[in-house]
Amino acid sequence: MQTSNRLEGIGEYYFSTKLREIDDLNKQGKNIISLGIGSPDLPPHHSVIETLSLEAEKANSHGYQSYKGSPVLRKAIAGWYQKWYNVSLNPDTEILPLIGSKEGIMHICMTYINDGDTVLLPNPGYPTYRSAARLAGGKLVDYHLEAGKNWFPDFEELSGLVPPSTVTGRQRAILFVNYPHMPTGQLPTKSFFDQLISFAREYELLVIHDNPYSFILNENPMSLLSVPGARDHVIELNSMSKSQNMAGWRVGMMVGAKERINEVLRFKSNMDSGMFLPVQLAAAKALELPLEWYRELNEVYKKRRTRVFELLDLLRCEYSRDQAGLFVWAKVPASEGNGYALSDQVLYGANVFITPGGIFGDAGDSYVRISLCCPEEKITESIERIKQFSGIKKPLHV
Ligand SMILES: Cc1ncc(COP(=O)(O)O)c(C=O)c1O
Repeated sequence: MQTSNRLEGIGEYYFSTKLREIDDLNKQGKNIISLGIGSPDLPPHHSVIETLSLEAEKANSHGYQSYKGSPVLRKAIAGWYQKWYNVSLNPDTEILPLIGSKEGIMHICMTYINDGDTVLLPNPGYPTYRSAARLAGGKLVDYHLEAGKNWFPDFEELSGLVPPSTVTGRQRAILFVNYPHMPTGQLPTKSFFDQLISFAREYELLVIHDNPYSFILNENPMSLLSVPGARDHVIELNSMSKSQNMAGWRVGMMVGAKERINEVLRFKSNMDSGMFLPVQLAAAKALELPLEWYRELNEVYKKRRTRVFELLDLLRCEYSRDQAGLFVWAKVPASEGNGYALSDQVLYGANVFITPGGIFGDAGDSYVRISLCCPEEKITESIERIKQFSGIKKPLHV
């Protein structure tokens, strides 16, 4: 069949094809260790699973749910934002639960983008911003992030990319931002967030802040909505996939001014219905988890990260030790070409998969990204495999 014009330039998601290739290699008996994707391998807290199963037993749990999500979940999200981000949200009007934050990116694009509207995208950045903006008909404009500027946007460059105002009162562009930043692990600072909101006010932007990593390897979770006046310009997306180990459950949220919630709901309520009630109630339970939950989780990730640093040393990659989130982002030595070349060498030589940084935009070409969602023993085994693979060992092993 002929696919729609809107699919032109949209390929299958990188991991969707790469995981198939890895599957094929496994069928040939290769037993690939994947250090690619950021899907937590640890389970959610047992109280969360218990809530799910108790609620699923109830006869009245199985019907369609409200498009705006269960009041119990919305209240829990409001409590979570207050406790950890010091942001007050009205649970009835300023919160919209999502079936994962990824779908929220698409809903937001479909709600606000007309053909040819400028969408400012981080390069490197999460590929879904680009494909969702393209599917919605936006004009894709990259802004560049670099290590020398702490992976923060250069506001001067950014100001040159915003088109002039055409319709009074309409946003001039949509700006996607994401801190802690994936894939670089860069944490936000208060002054950067303040600057971002002033910039959004001056240039009349709608800022979409994607915030799924604020609890991982970070003790000071921050929300862009904590900046005074941010609600006039910002929609924030958040997720339970990473910090609550619930990636497969598909629970996320969108928070912002009540007008934004209603605008996006106009689109989303035509696409799907509320989530399975037991999932929502169990998610509410997960949002009540105390500090120890996050501490214990981060202890595991810290240990894994130390091993990943060793693996990267072996590959002679350079990296910052202060990264937040579920990955380590590292620069490939010039002698190895780029991240794609190194990723292929390690995959086909040592049966270990690491993600080439170029899939996040060409500014990531000379980088690789390694996931921490893999038990420590597997990372150790990856190190051993890489040591044994002579193609890597000789040129890269110092
Ligand atoms: C930056 C970023 N945003 C959003 C998502 C999607 O998260 P969710 O599972 O909530 O859809 C991911 C998942 O990898 C991500 O890395």
